[in-house]
Amino acid sequence: MEKQKQVWEKFWQEKTYDDLAIKEYHTDLKKIIEDIPQVRTTIEIGSGIGITSLILSDKIECTLLDFDKGILEKAAQLFAKHGRSAAFVECDMFDLSAVQRKYDVVFNSGVVEHYNAKERTVLLKEYAKVMAENGAMVISVPNHYCLPYKLGYVALRCLGRWKFPKEYAIKNLSQELNEAGLRLEKMTIAANSLIENSIQWVGVRLIYLCLKKIFKFQGYLRVFVIRRK
Ligand SMILES: C[S@@+](CC[C@H](N)C(=O)[O-])C[C@H]1O[C@@H](n2cnc3c(N)ncnc32)[C@H](O)[C@@H]1O
Repeated sequence: MEKQKQVWEKFWQEKTYDDLAIKEYHTDLKKIIEDIPQVRTTIEIGSGIGITSLILSDKIECTLLDFDKGILEKAAQLFAKHGRSAAFVECDMFDLSAVQRKYDVVFNSGVVEHYNAKERTVLLKEYAKVMAENGAMVISVPNHYCLPYKLGYVALRCLGRWKFPKEYAIKNLSQELNEAGLRLEKMTIAANSLIENSIQWVGVRLIYLCLKKIFKFQGYLRVFVIRRK
């Protein structure tokens, strides 16, 4: 856990505001969250800089939670710069007892895949404690069933150039949800154009698009909408 914290602190220290482009996975996730009926309050757990929260409708009251104090300070500056108010909570998500209220939507992106199935079950139970009675949880993870993403991930790991904590492939969270007493409402594959949009060379992008058509590559993101049983 401490090692994972250090990896994130180093990653965020190297980032500047210029790096904070809004990506397709932020906008797709925003849409999925805003489509949940009657969402007025959200908490992003493992928020990092909190871009998804930042771009949510300003009718939604946002809270950002992370164990990295530095990134929460940067997020607070970013929100202030955009004239957006939010609450910021510094704590470890394995113990959310410091969070005294419940939210319509509890969500995160790029967080739970760094923890194993046993840890994910603990996390889902903990997240449920801060989810309103009729609320929803939205968990999004990189899609390891997207072949180009998987190949890139494996290649970077082999070359020692993967700069994030290790990722576990998550297909449906069924075992974790069952053990946590939760149910899957729906699963969406999103960010379907993210990979080709990140290819700068036109020729390579065209080749990629042909291969995508032939092999039917999935999108970059798996998004799970979860409810109480
Ligand atoms: C991939 S980043 C989130 C990025 C964000 N979704 C975005 O699109 O900008 C994962 C974040 O989870 C946080 N995190 C990881 N483990 C955590 C834990 N146990 N408690 C609180 N935050 C945690 C890290 O500090 C990091 O900021």
